[in-house]
Amino acid sequence: MKNVSLGESQKVKRKITILTGAGMSADSGLKTFRDADGLWEGHDVMEVASPQGFRSNPELVLQFYNERRRQLLQASPNAGHRALVDLEKKFHTHIITQNVDDLHERAGSSRVLHLHGELLKVRSTAPPFSVYHWEKDLYLGDVCEAGNQLRPHIVWFGEEVPLLPRAASITSEADILIIVGTSLQVYPAASLLYYAEEGVPIYLVDPRPALAPTPGLNLHLIPRKASEGVPELVSQLLDQGN
Ligand code: APR
Repeated sequence: MKNVSLGESQKVKRKITILTGAGMSADSGLKTFRDADGLWEGHDVMEVASPQGFRSNPELVLQFYNERRRQLLQASPNAGHRALVDLEKKFHTHIITQNVDDLHERAGSSRVLHLHGELLKVRSTAPPFSVYHWEKDLYLGDVCEAGNQLRPHIVWFGEEVPLLPRAASITSEADILIIVGTSLQVYPAASLLYYAEEGVPIYLVDPRPALAPTPGLNLHLIPRKASEGVPELVSQLLDQGN
């Protein structure tokens, strides 16, 4: 087939996958989990973020997420979230986030995949597990159309991560991988970076990077806060062009 030259506007965009964690939203005032004064310092994970916890004390679990939902509604995207939107000018981006906030969407990112669910959604606790947008507090007795109790639309510890295969496939196609603000301690999310093809540049933006230079990883550490390091990285990538 003769070579088809694509016009400038049709030029195939290189693919960037961005894996984000709680550090991405720290500069928006939302607590991380494992830093000092993190969310897990005040709570027992299994009490507030597991199916067992919800069964034994649903009020405590609902209150934990009500408080986080209220805080999210007071928060705004930071310069890091906004910079990732700018990337879309020259690259085909996919954001795979462990975060349950909607700050990437509010900043304007087009393709966001929530591995661990979404704080502003709830779902029925019985088939067909309908999902609803939800911004108010959620209480026992709040039920779906079929009369079943609603729960946060969050992937709790011990539950399946249904979007993992999709996230792995997206990451395997990346020309560039950016990781922002995650301790890489929770699996299977933390395994995603190993789905990237060998040699793909991996940029890690985190003041306390969870990865060290490793043979076989084309790793670039940026030990900065997301709201500073991500805009800098984005302008560098945009200047490089495709
Ligand atoms: N900018 C960038 N990174 C930051 C910032 C910041 N301002 N502040 C903290 N960090 C980094 C920390 O250095 C750490 O590496 O963010 C990371 C936060 O790690 P965690 O608190 O463990 O959050 P995360 O990795 O997203 O947790 C993964 O664990 O509890 C579960 O489901 C929960 O999605 C969560 C998952």
